[in-house]
Amino acid sequence: MRLVFLGGPGAGKGTQAKILNKKLGIPHVSTGDIFRSTIQKGGDDAKLLKSYMDAGKLVPDKVVLKIVASRLQEEDSKNGFILDGFPRTLDQAKGLDEILQQKNLKITGVFYFEINPDVLVDRLVSRRVCENCQAPYNLKSMPPKKDGICDLCGGKLIQRPDDQPDVIRKRFQEYIECTAPLVDYYEKQGLLVRLDASLPTEKVSQIIVELVQEMLPK
Ligand code: AP5
Repeated sequence: MRLVFLGGPGAGKGTQAKILNKKLGIPHVSTGDIFRSTIQKGGDDAKLLKSYMDAGKLVPDKVVLKIVASRLQEEDSKNGFILDGFPRTLDQAKGLDEILQQKNLKITGVFYFEINPDVLVDRLVSRRVCENCQAPYNLKSMPPKKDGICDLCGGKLIQRPDDQPDVIRKRFQEYIECTAPLVDYYEKQGLLVRLDASLPTEKVSQIIVELVQEMLPK
């Protein structure tokens, strides 16, 4: 099962990919998480990645494709993966097609998280994430049991630097200009599955599981 989760910032892609990862046991590959972890470790690319992410701009395609190609070579990706936040441009989508073609593979389906952008801003400003295990929370819709503490690992909950209103605006602009055309790209290939991402988390998750079951080979 090779899935792509496509949608605007804050649409719930990461939340649902983490839930599905637990249910299916296939890896959740989030380019955003990979970049944040590189920045935390202070690797070679850390400064460059941070400059793009803090400004809400997309990281250049060449950099992204190299990282994804290498991640998909790892052993755990052999039985499938959930791509969250990638591809995000037409060139990335074509690059992904090439990576998969070399392995004689294809995308199984693209879940498009459809939602009114007004809801997203509110979700993003009230998002908190565990600085240790990256578990997502929301002060309104998914608060932790103890204020500021991760329910899962006891780590500290933080606000992402790019969840500030001015950066959120830039991320939306990038989404509309560069990523939204992918809806058409995948729809034309018959791969797009539209999801109502404004529904409660549990309902979205239930719908995804049902759709995934229909996609499994009979
Ligand atoms: P990335 O980390 O991918 O951010 P994003 O795409 O903007 O997506 P988010 O993580 O903000 O949202 P999400 O849809 O995962 O929502 P979540 O589940 O957390 O990318 C960050 C940056 O990295 C980019 O700006 C760019 O610079 C760079 N980058 C990454 N990939 C790149 C690429 N391929 N190319 C170039 N650059 C790239 O949910 C949001 C909140 O809502 C949470 O608080 C959650 O609890 C809550 N919530 C979730 N679902 C629901 C629900 N159904 N109802 C109510 N609340 C909900």
